[in-house]
Amino acid sequence: MSAKPLPWNRVVLVLAIALVMLVALLVGIAFQQGGGKSIVTGQALLGGPFTLVDQDGKTRTEKDFLGHNLLIYFGYTFCPDVCPTELAKISAAMDQLPKDANVTPVFITIDPVRDGVKEMKAYASAFHPRLMALTGTEEQIRTAAKAYRVYFAKNTSAGTTDYLMDHSSIIYFMGKNGEYIAHFTVESTPEQIAERVRQAL
Ligand code: NI
Repeated sequence: MSAKPLPWNRVVLVLAIALVMLVALLVGIAFQQGGGKSIVTGQALLGGPFTLVDQDGKTRTEKDFLGHNLLIYFGYTFCPDVCPTELAKISAAMDQLPKDANVTPVFITIDPVRDGVKEMKAYASAFHPRLMALTGTEEQIRTAAKAYRVYFAKNTSAGTTDYLMDHSSIIYFMGKNGEYIAHFTVESTPEQIAERVRQAL
């Protein structure tokens, strides 16, 4: 037998590259079918049924919001940076609109283990009097987040008993029939949000 042994390093490397390319391709396809499409056609692809509880302990479903425009943001009260910034932005946008404008800002936690009704009430009151803060069971939160294509995951890399939550940061502007109208990113300003809401009122 004179066959040379296979150069395993090379084989492993080639397989690894092939795997990375395959994953990239699948992620690309998933993105096109998910994020991209929902933003183009909007309706029905974003939002949907949920059952949660507000900061006063009242059960809230998507049906309670019919007839109301919503600015929805998913985050958590322990968030050190992005969530407070975005909620302050939503509050600033609200302050640029008439006091009785038909738009309700809604904050939904993706960390229901730590964000109970009491915690949500205290946190929301620090931002805007009209801010509705919703929590629920882990299952209920998963359902709501899925409806809005919100990514979230526990991040324990900090080490201690405390943990952070990784999560996507998008403000969704939903219409009176629960339909998607627009979304805002961390780049958006309160002025831009207020202007877009004004157009829809
Ligand atoms: Ni956050």
